[in-house]
Amino acid sequence: MDDRDALIAALPKAELHIHIEGSLEPEMMFQLAARNGLGLPYADVAALRAAYAFTRLQDFLDLYYQGMQVLRREQDYFDLAMAYFRRSARQGLGYAEIFFDPQGHTSRGVAFATVLGGLMRAQAVARAELGIGSRLIMCILRHLDEADAERTLDLALAHRDAIVGIGLDSSEVGHPPAKFRRVFRRAREAGFRLVAHAGEEGPPAYVWEALDLLGVERIDHGNRALEDAALVQRIARDRVPVTVCPLSNLRLCVVGDLAAHPLKRMLDLGLCATVNSDDPAYFGGYVGDNFRAAAAALPLGADDLARLARNGFEASFAAEAEKAAMLAEFDRRVGRS
Ligand code: ADE
Ligand code: ZN
Repeated sequence: MDDRDALIAALPKAELHIHIEGSLEPEMMFQLAARNGLGLPYADVAALRAAYAFTRLQDFLDLYYQGMQVLRREQDYFDLAMAYFRRSARQGLGYAEIFFDPQGHTSRGVAFATVLGGLMRAQAVARAELGIGSRLIMCILRHLDEADAERTLDLALAHRDAIVGIGLDSSEVGHPPAKFRRVFRRAREAGFRLVAHAGEEGPPAYVWEALDLLGVERIDHGNRALEDAALVQRIARDRVPVTVCPLSNLRLCVVGDLAAHPLKRMLDLGLCATVNSDDPAYFGGYVGDNFRAAAAALPLGADDLARLARNGFEASFAAEAEKAAMLAEFDRRVGRS
């Protein structure tokens, strides 16, 4: 282990961009399929893993929506989230903001309360047994229509206290943020924190729309924002965090090579960048793995790595007192501020 790997292992981490359905490991997919009496179109785990060869976002999304169909019962969602928390705990996770995609479940007849109940029960166990704090962010699937998004927001409003924020994910190109300006306005009026995937495959204009039309407080991914100098200035000036996902970007061919990844450039431009796993079961790594892969490919010094980890806590939607306590603990353990 080199010095940076030792530092990465020791850093407390907050991850703000993790789709819980994307933490469904192939082994668990087979277990849940068997438990629920369902078949899978793959002979075994190896065949399923072999299918994880993506050239763009949509290739992945097709398998992601297919894979989540094994999730049926409250216990399935609990088991999924607990597996995520336990694996991430071993990589230094202290806090997580977890995306979930209710339309991927309600469209199959699984009740919103079933999904939420399992996730919330896991959150409580993670807090009590692993010391991991967490919040839930409900994502709207942008390839579906506005009316479906409005109905899904109504479901979230019925569980207002369980959900800290609303996000926007799924197929980006052709589904600009503007499509959801009314839903996001209603979400903002209800007091939800707002985020959106933008600039993963979509152009800088989608990042502008996410900021100016939706009023989001963080940008998920944001890679392509770097193509627009005025946009970079805006994100730096307003300290809009970007939740960056190195292994995801590699596996979805957003970058050809991790050595060409913009993470270091983002820091050097003064952006509040954070490191995240996105869909760890599909992209080959949890949050610590993402730090390690980025550090192996990019000239990230110890200060950069500590800054990235600290940014995760700083950019979180935790209550102010909880955030202050996590940052104080971070500074005590890492020895810099
Ligand atoms: N849903 C799950 N992962 C996603 C990603 N990386 N981009 C858009 N939608 C997603
Ligand atoms: Zn994502």
